[in-house]
Amino acid sequence: MKLVDITLNKSIRVFAPATVANVACGFDIMGFAIEHPGDEVVMTLTNRKGVVIDKIIGDEGKLPLDAEKNTVSVVVKYLLEHVNSQFGAKITLYKHMPLGSGLGSSAASAVAGLFAANELLSVYEPEKALKNREALLPFAMEGERLACGSAHADNVAPALMGGFVLVRSYDPLDVIKIPTPEALRVTVIHPHVEVQTRDARSILKKQTPLKDAIIQWGNTAGLVAGLWKCDFDLIGRSMQDVIIEPIRSILIPGFDAVKANAMQAGALGCGISGSGPSIFALSQDQETAEEVGRKMQNAFGALNIDSEVYVSPINRQGPRIVDEGLNHE
Ligand code: HSE
Repeated sequence: MKLVDITLNKSIRVFAPATVANVACGFDIMGFAIEHPGDEVVMTLTNRKGVVIDKIIGDEGKLPLDAEKNTVSVVVKYLLEHVNSQFGAKITLYKHMPLGSGLGSSAASAVAGLFAANELLSVYEPEKALKNREALLPFAMEGERLACGSAHADNVAPALMGGFVLVRSYDPLDVIKIPTPEALRVTVIHPHVEVQTRDARSILKKQTPLKDAIIQWGNTAGLVAGLWKCDFDLIGRSMQDVIIEPIRSILIPGFDAVKANAMQAGALGCGISGSGPSIFALSQDQETAEEVGRKMQNAFGALNIDSEVYVSPINRQGPRIVDEGLNHE
């Protein structure tokens, strides 16, 4: 006879997408999700309170298995404590994207974990599950605070909600989904150089001259208007960052050449993805986006820097259940 069932019957596997934050002119206030890559979490609720990480696959041993130090376990613990759940959780994390890449790696893991936990709560303690995914956002933001010292939402919000997201305000938190043209494609190139978000934030200036602020907020509003109106030309004109890119681009060898090649290949605009070192470009069709990727890769290749290219539509769904009702040992 089975005396104590330490795990509940139902496990779930959830995918959450990588994200491009800032989108050139919108430092800390704009981001969008892409179809691939992304991270996956397999989670089981346990009768014992607390969160444990069973395994991490694909991180080359770089992430802590200690549940107090790992973003995904910490945010799930916050959620379970917040709703006063009687359960704990056991997590296996599958990292499908490089760490320190500027693709929102910590955000994807945290969002996958929170979404999985809330789905399981809706089965085992339905009265405690949060009613909509936006309610998970503050927990995901705490994961960013743990990962880099700043609770920015421009990766976690699009990873959680899908699509292109504007963070209009942090206090109070106000996030808005912006419609985007169907045909829009993103090319992201990840050079094999590591940049930690914490470091990339620490080099930024604390003050901005008014003349730069005027250019930046004009572009930010222009980008939102261009996306809404499906005006590719306006989208392209607006993808300029006069505040952050001039400082951070020095951390990315070959940035100017890669951007020049992307623009020559027909990209609408090009900039640093999040805190880098990945660089992204938007294009108005798949063929151009692929050509942009080849040309960007050539530029890194000329500097003997290896890279991966991802070409993707905007991911509109955010996290998704890959498998549920998994059997566990
Ligand atoms: N907005 C954040 C930053 C995103 O640029 O520091 C980090 O991925």
